Amino acid sequence: MSKRKALSISESQLREMINILVKNPSDFFLSGQCRRYLALDRWKSGGRYLRIHEELDEGVMPGAVEHNRKELERDDFGSYTRTLRLINPLKSLDPVYGGAPNMAVLTIGPRTEMEIFHLIGVGFSPSNITALDLISSSPLIDTGDMHNLPYPDRSFQVVISSWVIGYSSSPQRAVDEMIRVCADGGLVAIGATYEPTLGRGVINKRESDSDINGSMFGSVSEFTDMIGDKLNYICFQQEPVGEQKGAVMLIARIKH
Ligand SMILES: C[S@@+](CC[C@H](N)C(=O)[O-])C[C@H]1O[C@@H](n2cnc3c(N)ncnc32)[C@H](O)[C@@H]1O
Repeated sequence: MSKRKALSISESQLREMINILVKNPSDFFLSGQCRRYLALDRWKSGGRYLRIHEELDEGVMPGAVEHNRKELERDDFGSYTRTLRLINPLKSLDPVYGGAPNMAVLTIGPRTEMEIFHLIGVGFSPSNITALDLISSSPLIDTGDMHNLPYPDRSFQVVISSWVIGYSSSPQRAVDEMIRVCADGGLVAIGATYEPTLGRGVINKRESDSDINGSMFGSVSEFTDMIGDKLNYICFQQEPVGEQKGAVMLIARIKH
């Protein structure tokens, strides 16, 4: 049997690595725990900033605002690792791999600053990041609705919707909007969890005002069908095997 290998790091090596991080502070945002710490601390020390988008489109799933607002109000910032599911593969793609600092990116439904920090961590410039949510928990996040994005046509090279599309009862309209604001040759990234017991399509089996079931997608083809003839190339995809719970994710290059 082979001997277990141990990795030991000396105190001076640790100190030097901390110095490296201090000189390159955006690298702190590669740590989910640092993203969560800073976002939560800024939220609490900033007086729990909260703005709600007033003009809800009919595509907004009933309960979407109440559900997300309740979670924020109990300081629940949710998962700090989930954003890596789309952001990690996105970062590996051209032109993001080398060109992120100069690319305009829109993140729809970040909920907290954690997702913005993550984008900074992988190289996007803070000034090129736009974030929009029905519920804004930060001045860095515009209030707005994914069914009616307040941005000009073709204004972003990357558009991300990370675990948001499920909150729509008109997902086609949400996808049409993502494509409209995406540049020719730009990338659209969509992720959601498939829960087979809830079925597929638009689902609304709410038992209370804070419940939300939303729409369910079990396969990547349900996303590509919505993109239709604007799909240029599938850069990254994943879907559950068979009828199992799991992530459905797509990063697609868009053509106009
Ligand atoms: C589950 S959180 C996703 C947080 C983060 N993106 C992630 O991947 O962990 C869903 C977010 O989408 C937002 N949202 C839901 N419907 C929306 C809509 N119509 N327009 C914009 N944001 C919406 C919610 O307010 C919430 O902040």
